[in-house]
Amino acid sequence: MKQSDVLVIGAGVAGLSFAIRLAEKRPDLSITVLTKTHDSESNTSYAQGGVAAVWNSRMDDYQKHIDDTLDAGDGICDASVVEIVVKEGPQRVKEMIEWGARFDKDNTGDYDLGREGGHSENRILHFKDITGWEIQRTLNERANQLSNIEVLEQYFTIDIITQHHLGRNVTRLTPGVECYGAYVFNKQSREIETFLAKVTVLATGGAGQVYKNTTNPVIATGDGISMLYRAKGRVANMEFMQFHPTSLYNPAGENPSFLISEAVRGMGGILKTTDGQEFMQKYDPRQSLAPRDIVARAIDNEMKLHGDDFEFLDCTHIPEHQFINHFPNIYEKCKSIGIDPMKEMIPVVPACHYTCGGIMTDAFGRTSISRLYAAGECTYTGLHGANRLASNSLLEGLVLGERVFQAVLESIDSIPLQTSIPAWDAEGTTEPKEMVMLTQSLKELKEIMSSYVGIVRTDARLKRALDRLHLLYRETELLYNTTIISPQLCELRNLITIGYLITKAAQMRKESRGLHYNTDHPEKFPYQEVTFL
Ligand code: FAD
Ligand code: SIN
Repeated sequence: MKQSDVLVIGAGVAGLSFAIRLAEKRPDLSITVLTKTHDSESNTSYAQGGVAAVWNSRMDDYQKHIDDTLDAGDGICDASVVEIVVKEGPQRVKEMIEWGARFDKDNTGDYDLGREGGHSENRILHFKDITGWEIQRTLNERANQLSNIEVLEQYFTIDIITQHHLGRNVTRLTPGVECYGAYVFNKQSREIETFLAKVTVLATGGAGQVYKNTTNPVIATGDGISMLYRAKGRVANMEFMQFHPTSLYNPAGENPSFLISEAVRGMGGILKTTDGQEFMQKYDPRQSLAPRDIVARAIDNEMKLHGDDFEFLDCTHIPEHQFINHFPNIYEKCKSIGIDPMKEMIPVVPACHYTCGGIMTDAFGRTSISRLYAAGECTYTGLHGANRLASNSLLEGLVLGERVFQAVLESIDSIPLQTSIPAWDAEGTTEPKEMVMLTQSLKELKEIMSSYVGIVRTDARLKRALDRLHLLYRETELLYNTTIISPQLCELRNLITIGYLITKAAQMRKESRGLHYNTDHPEKFPYQEVTFL
């Protein structure tokens, strides 16, 4: 049994920025941070475009960033959360710079601010096209310098611990559910360990791996959202899965799909059909720089109209030095599969990119379970509404990481550690006989979600998806209850829960809004939150 004051599940921008703040302010507290692979494998590390923040007060102001965020969110953002994140954002970015993060500057010495879809001003701070890598590096280095933070790699969290594990019946209506820590699979010893803490923070990232094509790394299996849902916590707005318009079309197939940053369109890249015609003017006056839901749907529509596997992003008119200087990683990747972006158009296709819904929290990351906080992509704070504005996610991780720190600081001294927790019970389970049962179910799940619950939905497709998901659920629960646990089995189980939450929420929303588009309900109705009680 391992005890610490605070348990943080997830070592991306949200989890680590929280842990660092708390460790610096309270050197007397012990903080354990878990990551299920190594400390640099996170969505954070893959971020390309940058962090959105109002930086240049001559050109930009908070209201413009607020308006852009509300506009992208298609009528259902929580305006108070938007205001908090936009106004606190620049200070959090300044602190990242003080911690050692490098962002590119222009030749006058000012920060070079990029533009992305849905933004009315240039406000994206970036480090080349590998901003996330730079942020993760900075956070890892800083956390490693703090002796009261212990980052444990290869520790896969199975479930959070609540009164349910003390033998009580916990339902979604039970008041006063509390979290006491988590059961965690140590991948090296293959043992399940009990981690106890006064306060637990879920910062487990998104769930893009529920689809066949995704820009998310393989760790993005929605573990935190599923754990919370199993523990009877509140999850909201899962129907809003964001598809990025432009992942690189690679006929060889790769997981994750490689992202061609929206910042490329911000620099002038133009979307074209396979016969070289511009098409975005048909869909939105902002053309290639319209918000993501609109652009992804437009590309999807053009692909269906023309029977294409991809459309093109034309960058051949952008000066070579400018492109290579800002996007060296994208340039190299394209070259590695035989495409010279300066001479040929880049084939692109939408791919699942971001989980806009998730664990419901207030503006301090408090979940519906006490002693349990959440921050980052695994949450629904109200910032993104029905569609996230580009580069607002790293920003949310930084701002909410700080606000969870404030809330934990205020409460931790009055919370006792609950130590009478039973060890994990693996009785009656045996070694799995055939891994093919897991790998095949995962393929089926991704197929179902991509075919029936993708960019465009219908009532019939959603019903079919739910019927198929129920079967997968039953088969996987049987495996879970009878075989010895593995991270692969837990991830499959979590992804099936995510698939269910997305599909069920999509079925419940009888309208089209933001990222949720159902041709049987094309109109928009007054807003209703889709939560799971
Ligand atoms: P993550 O960074 O995903 O971290 C999750 C952590 O949780 C990991 O450490 C993981 O190991 C751990 N974890 C998960 N499950 C478990 C478990 N069961 N047990 C133990 N540990 C677990 N956003 C922007 O704002 N700007 C961008 O330019 C941008 N570009 C992007 C490009 C790509 C290709 C992708 C995929 C995303 C991009 N995003 C961008 C989105 C952004 O990167 C993420 O939303 C954000 O980094 C999420 O941070 P996080 O801390 O919530 O989670
Ligand atoms: C990108 O660089 O296009 C990704 C930005 C984001 O997801 O916010």
